[in-house]
Amino acid sequence: MKRLTILGIILACSVALCMGQRRSRTGQQKIIQLTEPNLAGTVSFEQAVAKRRSVRQFSSELLKRTQIGQLAWAGQGITDPQRNLRAAPSAGEVYPIELLFATHEGLFAYRPADHSLLETSDQDIRVRLAAAAASTRDSVAGAGCDIIVAGSSRKFAKRFGAKARTYTYLEAGHVAQNIQLQAVCLGLGSVTVGDLDSAAVRKICRLSRELEPLYIICVGHPIGGGATEGQTDAGGKRAAFIIASANFRDEELFATKLVLDSAQVQTVVASTRTGIIRGERGGIADARVLVSQLRVDDYDAIIFVSGAGAVEYAANPDALNIARETVRKGKVLAAIGLAPTILANAGVLTGVRATSYLSERQRLMQAGALYTGLPVERERLIITASGPTASAQFGRAIADALTVSIR
Ligand SMILES: Cc1cc2nc3c(=O)[nH]c(=O)nc-3n(C[C@H](O)[C@H](O)[C@H](O)COP(=O)(O)O)c2cc1C
Repeated sequence: MKRLTILGIILACSVALCMGQRRSRTGQQKIIQLTEPNLAGTVSFEQAVAKRRSVRQFSSELLKRTQIGQLAWAGQGITDPQRNLRAAPSAGEVYPIELLFATHEGLFAYRPADHSLLETSDQDIRVRLAAAAASTRDSVAGAGCDIIVAGSSRKFAKRFGAKARTYTYLEAGHVAQNIQLQAVCLGLGSVTVGDLDSAAVRKICRLSRELEPLYIICVGHPIGGGATEGQTDAGGKRAAFIIASANFRDEELFATKLVLDSAQVQTVVASTRTGIIRGERGGIADARVLVSQLRVDDYDAIIFVSGAGAVEYAANPDALNIARETVRKGKVLAAIGLAPTILANAGVLTGVRATSYLSERQRLMQAGALYTGLPVERERLIITASGPTASAQFGRAIADALTVSIR
């Protein structure tokens, strides 16, 4: 039995090397068998083509393994087992394209031969990948799955000489198009990212020199995509935004509120004073509730917004008690930008995956949070976000958390 396990690991490692990936640091590699692809989707080809649009902002909902398997199959799956032919065409049937899937669970190489995923790392590399795709950073960091499309023109060189590189690039396009259309059929959004630092991506994914990263395809649940099958929307729920009495961060309130408004969540603004309050950028909010009188029982979600003025809540006993009571009562607690520090100070982030504006990282970690640096993090009903640019995604994560499953 032990010999068999060792043989399995050696086999996995040699397969990884054949595919151009280096061994994981531990040398232990998991193989995940994917379920058979669905060949009877309900969206027509014409509908998929008509509906496909680049999507760059995603909700925090994770992708299911069946969805990842379906995307892998559409890109490189074997569709003619007798002749070993794949879903996307390949000059001379050389198949120089490799697909890697970066998710919250790690990095996985797709193996068309047995429709499985080989784990090449158990680390979530999405934030590091994002740094290698600067102009599309938030999409790469925020996608449920980043698919790295890498090509080996060397595989073509012998047969096609000077055409090798062109053919590799053309094939990456075929594969990416299949994946994007499959994403539409699954109700997912995607964007192909060509503006990337290939050398950096190769290093992060620990690919061999032979493989050139050509694309990252970010795939996820589109923001504002509506409720998925088996779910109702968050309509009728109530949320309170807690903002500073001066200098709140405008986008964090307004862009988040916009998403909640469209999900029919009723919102109210609370602060340490009532009346008109100006944001850092001149926006106007009307605070109707005093933080000292806010009753957590009246709301389904409490949302702390930041901005320079939010420091007033860092040690405010009312604010800290509200955060603690919200968690105790099983309601949604959210904070963005500098405000996750309020949650840390309330002691509710211990052992919780969280994010914030980078300046707060140390404070969160000292409070026992598992800091990820992602645009948005959700663990159970605690949602945190990195700052203004993540506001819409933050709003969507709150709406998702307020959504009641009726399954
Ligand atoms: C080769 C190629 C590279 C691309 N690179 C990026 C990119 O780096 N970042 C990005 O946001 N979109 C990228 N895109 C997506 C295009 O911006 C997008 O396709 C275009 O705006 C048209 O919109 P549509 O995809 O919704 O039709 C790329 C598309 C292609 C075909």
